[in-house]
Amino acid sequence: MTAGGADIVAKTPHNPIEAGAPPADDVRRSGAGVDPSEVAPTEGRLVMLEGPPSGVQSSLARAVVVANDHLGDRYWRMQLSAPDIAGNTQPGQFVMLTVTPSGPSNWVLPRPMAVADRDVARGTIDVVYGTHGWGTRQMAGIGTGDELTVVGPQGNGFRLDPGTKHLLVVGRGIGLCSLSLLAVAASKRGMAVSAVLSARDREANVLVPFFEAVPNAKVLAVLDADGSSDPEALGPRLQALLDEVPAQQIATCGSRRLLRMCAALAVRTGASLQVALEAHMACGMGYCHGCSAWVQGADQEGPLVCRDGPVFAWSAPGR
Ligand SMILES: Cc1cc2nc3c(=O)[nH]c(=O)nc-3n(C[C@H](O)[C@H](O)[C@H](O)COP(=O)(O)OP(=O)(O)OC[C@H]3O[C@@H](n4cnc5c(N)ncnc54)[C@H](O)[C@@H]3O)c2cc1C
Ligand code: FES
Repeated sequence: MTAGGADIVAKTPHNPIEAGAPPADDVRRSGAGVDPSEVAPTEGRLVMLEGPPSGVQSSLARAVVVANDHLGDRYWRMQLSAPDIAGNTQPGQFVMLTVTPSGPSNWVLPRPMAVADRDVARGTIDVVYGTHGWGTRQMAGIGTGDELTVVGPQGNGFRLDPGTKHLLVVGRGIGLCSLSLLAVAASKRGMAVSAVLSARDREANVLVPFFEAVPNAKVLAVLDADGSSDPEALGPRLQALLDEVPAQQIATCGSRRLLRMCAALAVRTGASLQVALEAHMACGMGYCHGCSAWVQGADQEGPLVCRDGPVFAWSAPGR
């Protein structure tokens, strides 16, 4: 299945990004996905998704802020009026947000943000963000009725296999924003969804209400605070779940350690695995090549996370 209409030129279908196992503190910075510069070879590799890319009916809009609510801790949810983007976004795609320049410290570079939710009828999209550096702190100060420049939807999103009966999504922190629309899409197609939501503590697990509202979704919130997020404990728990109800697809975002755990589950159960990566992005649309993924030993540029990803397929060793 493809995630949407596809107009961009097909790209090298199997440009490998070696994936695997650096020693890791997996607590991510603030973003979604897994930073490709932090994955190293040994345990399989990431490859570009097969098939036509997600829809690229990307548009630039001056979007009015409908709401910008503090969710707790350092997390905020911003709702924007952007009907074209709401109508075209596929799970895992993102937007580039630019605050209207004003004053001496103009915000030049846009910031990539996953589309965490959308309402096609109302023409709105939601981004959930954590305040991190200058740009996201500025976002937190934006009020209802203000305007932002939004470009999107960008990138290649997740693909749902029509044969999937049970989807396991495993995300951490703000990385869960890249998985939320995937859970909705799977549920709408009648698939069972198991959602593992990992965070530092209860207050930081801000996407729990969203996933709990997805029909057919079983939510497992796991926390650093009580040790339940530790892959050493979580892996066997999920293995038992998959022994009982096999999943045909696993999708993950937000943590190297969870990616490794999901890769092990995929090998043991035969499920396919997709992962949303993170990269620093300047343009978000394939021009600057600043987000090129690292390819070990390659003498060529890796795929662009913004254009070829951010979602990649994980391929088991030897496949
Ligand atoms: C595809 C994608 C989806 C994302 N979705 C979300 C989301 O839904 N919610 C959320 O809170 N964050 C998300 N992020 C991360 C978010 O873009 C960064 O946290 C944000 O750009 C930081 O901006 P800043 O001005 O606060 O930080 P600063 O450090 O001041 O930013 C400086 C510059 O570095 C870049 N940069 C810094 N950190 C990151 C980072 N972690 N990833 C990418 N670029 C970075 C910014 O683009 C900016 O130009 C996503 C990132 C990507 C690549
Ligand atoms: S961010 Fe410019 S090419 Fe990807």
